[in-house]
Amino acid sequence: MTTLTIAGLRVAVGGTEVLRGFDLTMHSGEVHVIMGPNGSGKSTLAHALSGHPAYEVLAGSVMIDDVELLSLSATDRVRAGLFLAMQQPMEVPGVRLIDVLAAAGAEPAGLLGRMADEARRVDLRPDLLERFVNVDLSGGERKRAEMVQFGVLRPRFAVLDEIDSGLDVDALGAVARRLAASTTEWGCGVLAITHFRRLLQELTPTMIHVVSGGRVVATGGPELSEVLERDGYEPFRELNPL
Ligand SMILES: Nc1ncnc2c1ncn2[C@@H]1O[C@H](COP(=O)(O)OP(=O)(O)O)[C@@H](O)[C@H]1O
Ligand SMILES: [Mg+2]
Repeated sequence: MTTLTIAGLRVAVGGTEVLRGFDLTMHSGEVHVIMGPNGSGKSTLAHALSGHPAYEVLAGSVMIDDVELLSLSATDRVRAGLFLAMQQPMEVPGVRLIDVLAAAGAEPAGLLGRMADEARRVDLRPDLLERFVNVDLSGGERKRAEMVQFGVLRPRFAVLDEIDSGLDVDALGAVARRLAASTTEWGCGVLAITHFRRLLQELTPTMIHVVSGGRVVATGGPELSEVLERDGYEPFRELNPL
């Protein structure tokens, strides 16, 4: 079993501390969901995990087993088994998906075939794999292409920011089913960031974490999403006054 441990993570953006002691532990094969209001620091967590230079780590640790990710380059974090899908996927003109996969350490032998298999699983037209990364793709196609990357790389942990934003029901279902299958196929640990409940109908969480003011203020089972649906985030905000 592999463990992802985020402990005491404090991150500043533009001189303001946005993550203020973020803690979360999860294991391979589990699905954890982070929910929280706008501006609570969810995307900041994803950016900090990616190694984005604008996100200054003030304190804390992010480990996969006993490997400290925060001291690794962005590429080495990917090679250590971390996969990130950002809220706004970047267009990378001139670079094809296959180049990204090769740079991330995907085994070259049979790579095109594995990409085609993964495209089929998420109903992505295989010819779209040849376009430059995210260029001239619809929102749904981008997410499906990201899932091809995910399926080929077989990361140990995948962090997906707002995976349901801008997706129609079919695309969301395809993405959620691929993620759910990964937990049993190779024991992937999935950390999904969302503020909608719709995703949870397709991807059953092991645990839900409520984030407010840059830290986790409540953790519980899937039933926590019903409390959020009923009461909103306001009661949780009071747990963590700024
Ligand atoms: N690049 C940035 N520069 C300045 N402030 C930022 C930047 N990114 C995020 N913030 C601020 O950090 C806070 C948390 O933002 P974010 O992590 O995007 O929230 P969430 O994803 O939970 O909606 C917000 O107050 C936001 O304005
Ligand atoms: Mg966000």
